[in-house]
Order: sequence, then structure tokens, then C-alpha cells
Amino acid sequence: MNNMGVDFLSIQIDADHASEIAKKLYQIKGVATPLPGYLDFNFLIKYDSASYILKIGRPDDDVEYLGFQQELLKHVANSDIQIISPKVFPDINGNFISEIKDQKGHTRKVRLLSWIDGRLWSSVNPIKADLLFNLGIQAGKITNALIDFDHPKAHRIIEWDIAQADWTYEYLHLFSKEQQEIISYFQIQYKAFQKEYKGLRKSVVHNDVNDNNIIVTADLLKPQVKAIIDYGDAIYTPIINDLAIAIGYAVMDKTDILESALPLVSGYHEEFPLLDEELKFLYILVAMRLIISVTNSAINKQKEPDNAYLLVSEKPAWEVLQKWRQIDSDYAYFSFRESCGFTAHPNETGFTNWTKNATVNFSSLFPTVGKEKIHPLDLSVSSTWTGLQSEFNDLDLFQFKIDQLQKLVPNKIIAGGYLEPRSLYTSSAYDKIGNMGVERRSIHLGIDFFLPEQTPVHALFDGTVVIAVNDEGDKEYGGLIIIQHRFNDFNFYSLYGHLTVASVEGKEIGHSVKKGDCIGHLGTYPENGNWAPHLHFQIMLSILDYTKDFPGVAYPNQIDVWRSVCPNPNLFFKNEHLEQRILNKDEAIVSYRNMHLGKSMSLSYDEPIKIVRGSGVYLIDESGRKYLDTVNNVAHVGHEHPRVVKAGQEQMALLNTNTRYLNENINEFARDLLSTFPKELSVVHFVNSGSEANELALRMTQAYTAQRDIIAVEIGYHGNTNGCINISSYKFDGKGGNGAPEHTHIVPLPDTYRGIYQGENKGAKYAAHIQEQIDIIKSKGRNLAGFICESIISCGGQVELPDNYLKIAYDSIRNAGGLCIADEVQTGCGRVGSHFWGFELHDVIPDIVTIGKPIGNGHPLAAVVCTQEVADAFANGMEYFNTFGGNPVSCAIGKEVLNVIKEEKLQLNALHVGNYLKSGLQKLQIAYPIIGDIRGQGLFLGFELTDTDKNPLHEKATYLANRMREFGILMSTDGKDHNAIKIKPPMIFSKANADELLSGLKIALNEDFMKKK
Ligand SMILES: Cc1ncc(COP(=O)(O)O)c(C=O)c1O
Repeated sequence: MNNMGVDFLSIQIDADHASEIAKKLYQIKGVATPLPGYLDFNFLIKYDSASYILKIGRPDDDVEYLGFQQELLKHVANSDIQIISPKVFPDINGNFISEIKDQKGHTRKVRLLSWIDGRLWSSVNPIKADLLFNLGIQAGKITNALIDFDHPKAHRIIEWDIAQADWTYEYLHLFSKEQQEIISYFQIQYKAFQKEYKGLRKSVVHNDVNDNNIIVTADLLKPQVKAIIDYGDAIYTPIINDLAIAIGYAVMDKTDILESALPLVSGYHEEFPLLDEELKFLYILVAMRLIISVTNSAINKQKEPDNAYLLVSEKPAWEVLQKWRQIDSDYAYFSFRESCGFTAHPNETGFTNWTKNATVNFSSLFPTVGKEKIHPLDLSVSSTWTGLQSEFNDLDLFQFKIDQLQKLVPNKIIAGGYLEPRSLYTSSAYDKIGNMGVERRSIHLGIDFFLPEQTPVHALFDGTVVIAVNDEGDKEYGGLIIIQHRFNDFNFYSLYGHLTVASVEGKEIGHSVKKGDCIGHLGTYPENGNWAPHLHFQIMLSILDYTKDFPGVAYPNQIDVWRSVCPNPNLFFKNEHLEQRILNKDEAIVSYRNMHLGKSMSLSYDEPIKIVRGSGVYLIDESGRKYLDTVNNVAHVGHEHPRVVKAGQEQMALLNTNTRYLNENINEFARDLLSTFPKELSVVHFVNSGSEANELALRMTQAYTAQRDIIAVEIGYHGNTNGCINISSYKFDGKGGNGAPEHTHIVPLPDTYRGIYQGENKGAKYAAHIQEQIDIIKSKGRNLAGFICESIISCGGQVELPDNYLKIAYDSIRNAGGLCIADEVQTGCGRVGSHFWGFELHDVIPDIVTIGKPIGNGHPLAAVVCTQEVADAFANGMEYFNTFGGNPVSCAIGKEVLNVIKEEKLQLNALHVGNYLKSGLQKLQIAYPIIGDIRGQGLFLGFELTDTDKNPLHEKATYLANRMREFGILMSTDGKDHNAIKIKPPMIFSKANADELLSGLKIALNEDFMKKK
């Protein structure tokens, strides 16, 4: 340990003195700025467009050590490996190590190094897998650069060398009981492997790749590690230690520290290939470095309680140690192997080869059943067989469906599921917060065989019972038996889950089982873990340190490790119907789409998502990952709402036809829908889309006024038909557009935040532009057909209309003989919370209201509601026929949507949750002024990202939406400048969902790119 009690410690060397030294010794005239240091005095000096670091040592500095440092830096700088490292400069006399005298006459050694510009790793946010990988690469390069370097001083005693960590043993008493348990856990293993550890490859290594020694480039979107600095602790030691150190520091503050460590291992391995025997120790070595760190802190805390620098890494180091202790050491080792491109489990290849000659018929599991064939059952997230979540969770219904299926295939066993992504498990017991938000276990690791309860289950191989428990709980195993099978050079385990409790009662651990023995019977719900009777059969090459149960389902991001630990049981059975459906990124789906679907159809997000299932407020991708949907106002009452699905299914089974026959559904739906409107709006025409609704509305205005000219709002969008595009400034003023057609007249977006009139009471000023356009139309010798406007302008960026705008606008239009259309395609059906329709916010009654998206909850259903007078004018003798509009299936669905809104009080929910979310956003705005404006009503909200001069920040909005998607939260951008974030989730959105959204936003808003000026 260092001797710290000497008088020179009280001497400070100030910046002026340092500037003087630099000038005198190196002719560098810049001003010195002190840098934090452990025991040296370090100063940054900028001079003549270059930057330097002046290092002034202690009087008792070891000259030989300093020489070692200088040699090492020269070696790295001159090596063939392409890395940036600090350069060393000689003084005016050609010395790389100079001397000065401090105030008390002590001689101190001085060195000058180049300063490497950039950001410190510790200040970078976020640190994502790419950057961790890149750190691994850089650390690997340093290993390569130092591999042929040595120096006597590299063999010194140093407390920071993991290979010398045994000095920490005697300080255990400095820690609490809980801390002692953690430290001893690692120390015991460290002690135990000394012999093999000492035999590992050695070299001089950097030995301090910590977050304050890593310099990162300034690029905030794709940061790279520029350099690793400060070789002061370099030491000759097992090479793997350097990676262990880098991991220990790089994973600090990460939620899932093992997951964060893996890209670092991959990167390092890519540059400096690691050996299996090194990976074996990595887990413990990471911990031992942190133990050195916390022990040092504990000692120094006693000596210098006020020195904040000494304590700087204590807290995060403890957090990592505590989390690291929770990770199974074998699991970590397997994960490291997988990151290096080895099979995660070292025995995987041996096992797979062995199974080539070890065929076992699956029927040997159930010899009394006498069935030799398999009927594969798809229970994956995209399976259409499983139906709704509620159906899947209805155990009687599920069993009924199995029984029905069994009747169709009486000679086969219904089975499947290896590596199947399943999203339908309800238990959230295994939900966890990972580095990218909530993670859920979904990948099934065994094969399920669906057979009647009490079916006897027999052992496939000789073995010994290692686990026999009643593993209770929702979707757990119930009766569970795990048998170990030993062969000459390896062993494996077989798992039998969902047995009766009686099957495990009295079963002794260590009890040997012979191939063909009956080991238990299939249970039924609830005792079997609460699912339909079936056997979950799984093979494991290790059982890690599980003693009660073993995961039967894995997190998707860990699949590559788990598929190796739990190989496919079909390796034995070799049954083509049990082959796994491999979950690989399907490039074909993108390339086919690019080639054969219209190119003008866009995909959301930089990395598109393949959604295969919807459920309430969630969309679920093919791996079972759930995304919180804050965008989709089409799934108004929730994705695949069971009542709406059922209404559609039932009517579909009964009849679907056009409206030329009498049908109750259309009348009932019309009646229910009209009951939500003021009495003046009393006639409805049903159509199939918002575009069709607006197209019809346009025809109505023309029929009523015999005019064609329409006034519409800037950045408005009203649909994709010819007529609708012609009135949609969002389209014709955007990319590929040709500006407003002759009969369309655009008035300014009434945006009181960034529009032409800002602030309070600007309704009349904006509305005056409507009169202006009427006058222009009239000046051309024509008159007006109508005015179309959304009640909150969505594509324009969720812009709320200013007070009185619509009232004055409607008056002007009506005075000129035109009709007023309220486009409620986005805002309708209770979304704005305080009212059922958005126009009601403005105390006006339109002549025509168009309704779309929400009313069908995803089914193509839309409507045009108008006054009797308008309807009569439209009915001029020409029949209005619509093949699909108003069909009984659509009407059944629409009716049910209205019922659900009412019965589940979703309008009220929109009001309460919307207000809650809006106030949460307002709180965020205080901390993150980049949120320029927050607006909207109910669950139709939005916010704009702007700088302090209200300039739109489109790139930040895009970044935010993409980051939120990475956290599992779907958001979208819009507005003229694409800088507005829209929030219009299903109306069942809860306060908890709002909290999840707000906390995701907070994380992203804190990131470097969002904070950049
Ligand atoms: C305000 C508004 N009106 C009309 C439409 C057109 O509806 P659809 O896409 O159902 O044809 C949309 C669609 O986004 C819309 O947002």
C-alpha cells in the first residue's frame, strides 16, 4: 500500500505555476487548467491549436516507473496497430522526463503528453451496444499493441492488478454483512481457480480501461471510441484481466449489466481472439476488479473521509457487484462464449453429434398411448389457432379446442413449441426492466405434448432424479421432475413439467430411474401449473444453479444462449412435424414488399417492426415483444377488443351483404351513432374509409350549392382519393405535390404557437382569412361549395383551433352560402374527453360530419352524418350505391364499438388519463425546454420540439420516436416541419401506461442528441 503520511501531500501546485513550467520546459505558452487527479497534478494546456497534458509528479516518484510509462507510450504510438494514444514530448533539452522544484524545494518529475480531444465515456448518454462493441475493439487493439512490449516495471506490485487481488482478503471486515457475503462469494471462487488462472496468457495490459479513461468521438448519433488514455496502471498480468476491467466499468449504471457486457466481449474477441479457458474466469475477474475498487474506497474513506475523488466510483461499483452476484456464473460464461461466436454451451456440439446415433421415439415418453405420429400445434404469437388472449386463457375453452382438434387427428399426438415465441402467457412474474424497457419471457424452450390428464409419462434414458417439486403458480410447472443422465464424457438433463402433484410427492432426489420407468402422470389445471393437460418436455445441458425449477421460457434477447443450453429435444425424436420454426429476421418480407408493393407506401421507423398481434394498448411483434401503442387511434377501444372481434365474427358467420335489403344492424347502428350528435345532424350514409367519407361530403357540398370551390386549412389531410388529395394541403404542398388546384383555397394553419399569429385570442384573426378566400372566390365570378376543417388538426401537428375560430369561420361560410364539414376522422368518438365529437369543443354544429378510423376499431368502416337538408339536396335522383358501405358485419362492429365506448366509460377515461398525461408532459417541459408546446385534448395530444427561438427540431423528433420504439413505445412524428410528436393511443390507455410513456420520454430527453444545442 502507498505511504500517504508525508508532508508534500499538503503542497498544491496551482495553475499559474503549471503554466510557467510548461513555458519554461516546453515553450508552450498556453494557460494551464487543473484536471482531477489521483495523486499527480495534471493540467490541460491549449497552445497553438494543439492541446497538451502536463503531468507533475510526486517528489517520491519512481523514475524507473516513469521511464516505463514513457517507453510504453512510445511503443504504442509506434506500433502497427491503428490506435490513437497519448504521445510523449521531450522538453527543450530533449528529456522525456524533466524536473522542477516545488515551493518547499522538493524535486518533482514533469512530463508532457498530447491531449486527446473528445468526450469522456462517463459523460456519454446513451451507451448502446454499438459503442460497447467499439470499446471492445479498441481495448482489443491495445492488447495487440502491447503484446510484444515488456519492461521490468510492468512486473511491480500494484493493488489494481486483478492477479494480485489477494490483498483484499484482509479488509473484509470494513464491509457490512451483506457486502461481505457478496465479496466472499467471489473471493472464494477466485482463490479456488488460482492454479489454472496463473497459467493463462499474459502480457503487459492497460489495466485501467475505466469510464474516465475512454475518449469518445463527438458524433452523438453514432459515437465511436476514439482512444483509451492513461496507461499509468499498466501491468504484466493475464490478458483477460484487461477485458474484465473494461466490463466492470462500462456496465456501470446499466440496467442489465450482463447484456451490456456482451457486445464488449464480442468487440474485444474480434480484435484479439479469446480462448475458452479465459472466458471461464471472466465473470469472477470482473467482480474481483470491483472488489479491489470498493476495498480501496473503504480504506481511503477511513483515511481521507473528505476526498470526493476517491469515492467517485464506489457507489456504481457496488451496484454492479450486487447485480453481478445475482447472475449465474455459468450462464455468464455461456453468454460470453456465445458473444465470441462459440456455441454458448461448451458441450452443445458434442451433444448434437451424440444424438445423431441416439434416436428415441417420442412415443417412448407415453408408451401406453400407442401413438406414433405428431400433429404440430402452433401456439406462437402469430398463430391464428389460439385466437384472442381471453380465449387462450379460458382453460375450458382451450381444452375444448384441443379436444376438437384431437377428434380430427385421433391417431396423432398434438405437440410442438420448441423455440416458439409465445405472447399469451398472462403471468407478469417474469417481466423485467432491461436496457430497453420492459422485457417479457416468450421463447418456449421445450416441446409440449397435449394428452389427457393422468397419461403416464416414462423416462427416455437411465438417470437420477435431481429435482422433484411441486412448482406451483400461474403457468408454472405444477409437478416437475428433472432427471440427470450421465454418459461417458458428458451429462444432460431432461425436464418433465405439468405433472400431477402426486407424481412428485415422496420422490427422492438422487433416486435412480431406468429407461422406460413410469416417472409420473400428466396433471390438469389448476394443480399442473394451471393449463390444459400436457407434458412440457425439455432437454438441458446444464441446470445452472436452479434447485426448484428451471426456465421453460426465455427472454427473446437471450435466445441464442438458451437454445444452446436447452437443445432441441427433436434431436432425439427426429420427427419432421416437431421441427422448430426458426425465428430469424425475415429479410424476404422487406425485399418482397420493396419489389411488389407500391413504393409510395412508407414503413415506420428506421428499423421497421413486424407486428403480428394486437392486444389492448399493445402491439406485439413476432418475437412476442410488446410495444405500448401511443399512436393508434384506429384501435379506438383497444387492439382486438374481444367484444368487437366477437360482434364481427358472429355477424360474419350469419350474413354479409349490401344495403339493398332490410337489415336491423344498419338501423340500430345508425340510431346509436346519431344519438351521439346534436339533433340537427340526423341522416347518415355509411362508407368504408375516411377518404370515402370526405369524398362523399364533397359531393354533398356540390349537390347542395352547385359550386366546386372548397376552403381548407394549411397542412390539412382529408384522404387519399382524387377529390380528397385536391383539398389536402398536407399532400399537394408536400413532397411530390403540385400546389393547390384552382378550386381549392387554403387558409393559414391556425397555430397560435408558431403560426402567423401567435398567443392568446387569435381566433378572429385566423378566421378572417376565410372571409378573404371567400372574397377571392367571388372575385373570380364563382361561389363557395364549402369549408372543411378538423376539430384538432392532426397531420398539422395536433394543432388546437383557437377560441372562436370555428364559430366565425362557420358564420362566414354560411353567409356565403357554403356548407361546413367537420372532419372527425381522427378526433371523433369520445377521444377529446370532454365531448364525444371534437366540433363540440367549439360550440358549433357542422352541416356535415365525416367519421372514420375509430368507429370500426380497425375494421374498414366510416360514415357521413349530415342535416336532413343536405341529405335531401344530395338525393337528387341519382342512386347512391356502395357495395360494402353499411354492410351488416361492419354495422355490427360499429354498433359494438359504440357500446364499448359507453359501457367502459372510455370518453371519461380519455378525459382523466389525457389530463394526467398532459400534466406529466408539462412537468417534463419544465426540465426539458426542448418541449416547446404541449397541446390537444383528452387522448388526442401532441407536443412540438423546438429550440429557444421556436425553430422546429425535426431531427430530434425523429430521434425521439426511434428511441422510444427501442424502449418498446410506439410514437409518431408529424406537422409541417415533422417536429411534432403525436399521442393518440387506444382509449383504454391507463395512468400506468401514461407513466410508462413519460418515463421513457424522460430517459430519451436526457440523452446527448436531445440535449445538443
Ligand atoms: C383527418 C383525416 N381525414 C381523413 C382521412 C382519410 O381516412 P382513410 O385513411 O380512412 O381513408 C384521414 C386519414 O389519416 C385523416 O387523418
